[in-house]
Amino acid sequence: MENQTESTLNFIDKDKIPTDEHKIILVTGGAGFIGSNFIRYLISKYPNFKVINFDKLTYAGNLNNLITIEDNVNYVFFKGDVADPKDVKTAFEQFSPDYVVHFAAESHVDKSIINPDIFLKTNVLGTQILLNYSREHKVQKFVQVSTDEVYGSIGNDLNVNEEARLEPNNPYSASKASADLLLRVAYQTYGQRINVIRACNNFGPYQFPEKLVPVIIHNALNNIEIPVYGDGKNIREWIHVEDHCRAIDVIMQNGKSGETYNVGTGNKWENIELVEHILEKLNINNNIISYVLDRQGHDIRYSVDSSKIRKELGWKPQIAFEVGLDQVITWYTNHMDWIEEITTGKYMNYYDDIYKPRMMETQ
Ligand code: NAD
Ligand code: DAU
Repeated sequence: MENQTESTLNFIDKDKIPTDEHKIILVTGGAGFIGSNFIRYLISKYPNFKVINFDKLTYAGNLNNLITIEDNVNYVFFKGDVADPKDVKTAFEQFSPDYVVHFAAESHVDKSIINPDIFLKTNVLGTQILLNYSREHKVQKFVQVSTDEVYGSIGNDLNVNEEARLEPNNPYSASKASADLLLRVAYQTYGQRINVIRACNNFGPYQFPEKLVPVIIHNALNNIEIPVYGDGKNIREWIHVEDHCRAIDVIMQNGKSGETYNVGTGNKWENIELVEHILEKLNINNNIISYVLDRQGHDIRYSVDSSKIRKELGWKPQIAFEVGLDQVITWYTNHMDWIEEITTGKYMNYYDDIYKPRMMETQ
């Protein structure tokens, strides 16, 4: 995507100025993986929603993710940093959002271990700044897109519900847990209307190739070793991103203010099993797998109890795991250009920073 400059991208043409019949949804981090899927979902489902995509365009933000809807009259991009009060103030004054759905974050655990500071700035301070302006502008609901990682590592055969203690074990999850507590304060002290959503691991189209599923597919298709951390026995619970988007929508519109909702599928895999499963689907030999140095503080297992959203809001996942996985493999196979653009650019530095030291230690 060319010309991602502030001057061109903050331009709003007259057709895009919202009218009274519209609900205005400010989506932060809408150029990232889940945010861009959520924006496409909203635009296709609700003709009366105006969606403002507020994004700083960090290494993980990619406007190509939104190319199919970028000309839609109900979509506006605003380049801004959630941790910069000037940017947030301008956006709130310009758009007066009815809802804020807050995805913007530094989202990758490995990066957080190397450089925690930016995680605190974006994920904690950024959330507080958004809450401040949401209060001032009387936003109807602030929806925090949190994560199951805030509960920390979960013992075998246990599922955690929303009452469980927050026991984060890495800088990323600690920053997300801190933000969740700020949401609690916004509700308890200032009477703001809020929800917190804690979903399990998402997979789907447009996921940045630093996360496990796209790493597996990309490396396999390019005959590059697939790095499996430690013994590969860590367990993650997986949800298709569209099912997560549906949950966010239902919580934004019908969730009881002040409540937290876990979002999960019960579909859990050891990392190594998932890697082998995808390789089998691709008909690629397991000898491409390379065991590498483990992640520091690597959580063994995540597993949420999502009965609350199922019972209270009638949500349940709609995409069977195998169907979703086949769709995602096909998507990546057909979008090698999307991935190439990333892997030939900044991502290569990322790859060297994260994987080279691990591989050297295990040689
Ligand atoms: P992502 O890294 O793909 O995207 C993050 C987006 O936020 C990018 O577009 C980036 O440019 C933007 N951003 C980062 N810093 C910003 C800043 N200071 N100001 C404005 N924009 C900024 O992340 P993702 O995987 O799509 O995750 C989105 C949210 O969902 C995160 O809050 C994450 O904690 C949460 N979450 C993710 C998962 C998952 O499996 N990926 C699961 C549960 C919850
Ligand atoms: O649980 C929700 C969380 O899921 C989100 O909050 C985070 O934003 C998201 O990044 C994700 O965190 P994980 O650390 O679970 O995801 P990641 O894809 O980085 O790793 C998944 C598992 O696979 C984890 O146990 C580490 C392992 N792994 C990961 C990569 C990238 C490997 O073995 N090799 C790899 O190359």
